[in-house]
Amino acid sequence: MSTPKPRLVILISGTGSNMEALISAASQGAVHGDIVAVFSNKPDAKGLVTARAAGIATEVVDHRDFPDRESFDAALADRINGFCPDLVILAGFMRILTSAFVRHFHGRLMNIHPSLLPKYPGLHTHQRAIEAGDRETGATVHFVTEELDGGPAVVQGPVPMLDGDTEQSLAERVLALEHKIYPYAVELFCRGRLALDSRGTLLDGQLLPPSGILFTEH
Ligand code: GRF
Repeated sequence: MSTPKPRLVILISGTGSNMEALISAASQGAVHGDIVAVFSNKPDAKGLVTARAAGIATEVVDHRDFPDRESFDAALADRINGFCPDLVILAGFMRILTSAFVRHFHGRLMNIHPSLLPKYPGLHTHQRAIEAGDRETGATVHFVTEELDGGPAVVQGPVPMLDGDTEQSLAERVLALEHKIYPYAVELFCRGRLALDSRGTLLDGQLLPPSGILFTEH
């Protein structure tokens, strides 16, 4: 009998193109995990329609139904726990999570961020990279810790910045790369090759550099 695949829960707030990349990687066998549920804090998130069309269970936990962040996160964690996830994947989930939530899912909570962290945590990453005159930007998959966009990196994918790049043109190229590096990182997790310890991210038991694995396209 084959061992069961890791159970994956994805959290979104909007379009869900990263979620879609993960769904298609899982269906093609490039990610050896079962996407057991997709959660959104927004009932009208477009990604919910995509997930349902793929036959995946969807759940809405609307943050507006809760008086504060703590009670929202507690309810969200409770509902997620109902799916017994091995990994919780933030894919454009636009809510800052409480320490209690992050601690609860320690070592099994990942995020993708559209910059080469530690550069540009938070919002408007592409505009900030343009204003700074950077020649390179990219995306980072990282384990989530209590520091916003600050957890140890798993994979970084660089994207060269071109003369005349706008926030929009950069966002498109970075997003296309995100769709490659997130499935890549999730697959490493599913294969049992990644772990988070107090020093950082381990790959096959070896500590990765703070920037994680450098993703290069072949
Ligand atoms: C991505 O750029 C991701 O890095 C950021 O939010 C965006 C989500 O896009 N955290 P999508 O919903 O996956 O299309």
